[in-house]
Amino acid sequence: MYVLGIETSCDETAASVVKDGEHILSNVIAGQSEIHSRYGGVVPELAGRAHIDHIHSVVYSAVVEANIKLSEVDLIAVTQGPGLAGSLLVGLNFAKGLAYALKKPVIGINHLEGHLTAIFLQEAIAFPYIALSVSGGHTDLYRVDGFGHYKLLGQTRDDAAGECFDKVAKMMGLPYPGGPVIEKLARSGDSTAHPFPRSFLQKGSLDFSFSGLKTSVKNFLQTRQNEKGLKLSDADIAACFQTAVVDVLVAKLLSACKQERACRAVITGGVAANSALRQHAENELKRHSIDVCFPKPVFCTDNAAMIAIAGYHRYKEEPVDLKNAFELDALASLAL
Ligand code: KG4
Ligand code: ZN
Repeated sequence: MYVLGIETSCDETAASVVKDGEHILSNVIAGQSEIHSRYGGVVPELAGRAHIDHIHSVVYSAVVEANIKLSEVDLIAVTQGPGLAGSLLVGLNFAKGLAYALKKPVIGINHLEGHLTAIFLQEAIAFPYIALSVSGGHTDLYRVDGFGHYKLLGQTRDDAAGECFDKVAKMMGLPYPGGPVIEKLARSGDSTAHPFPRSFLQKGSLDFSFSGLKTSVKNFLQTRQNEKGLKLSDADIAACFQTAVVDVLVAKLLSACKQERACRAVITGGVAANSALRQHAENELKRHSIDVCFPKPVFCTDNAAMIAIAGYHRYKEEPVDLKNAFELDALASLAL
């Protein structure tokens, strides 16, 4: 069964063909960082227009790379939400048009479901597991008991961790997206030079909050002086900030695993590409006999292969017919 995945929830136009829910035949992604970089974040109107420019060639490339004919596609899986309304609409309407022309069914997929199950793009792991999905738009902890079976354990009450990386980078005059730039800078910095606050909220809470940390970095940047009166470099500030984020993410993930008595964890989403997070999570969770795995960076960030694979499993559980395509609507705040 050939599933064509289409993803346009934020600033990546992506399409992928996955065979039988496991063989990735193509995974095409057209990013827009150069468009949004000068604004320090994604500009929704520009993102929607860029999707319109790219969607046709991205889908076409995905089909050509997969070495199949468009008519061989059995199912179209498209991100229905959550995301930017204008961006979602481009992918969704393209999928509907294609479905109409090909007389093939379309299934709407929740973007978060794609991230939570992206690990299956590289290996089949056993359920249940705790997933930390951490990106520019979300910071969530879920218990995953199977495809379509997700229990929310905690989420951010304000900024997402990736958003915090992006905003701190902007305050430091660094380009968008901030995460990779801060990670690179942090490699040559002293992460113990200044203790930025770690917000753990009430005892036992699995929710996150990053707005206090962001404000703390903003205030610190006015003097750059630590308690010993030393002026910190950009690299030191990046390292101290990154450590504060990573400490909280790993501590909450560990608490979630303990609460749910889970012995497996997955870290996914754009921020999961961060090597400090990977290393700290591996060390900490291993100490508690919990296995942790990460999708490859290309599967951590937004991609359509994760949408295709989620669509495949959804369709197996509950097939949809062609009529379903025309009832689908983009839902910017779609809940899982
Ligand atoms: O999953 P994603 O591609 O798109 C969203 O759904 O948001 O994640 C993008 C986010 C951005 O905020 C970016 O700064 C962050 O992931 N990010 C990173 C790294 N690479 C990307 N954050 C920290 N370290 C990284 N290496
Ligand atoms: Zn995402």
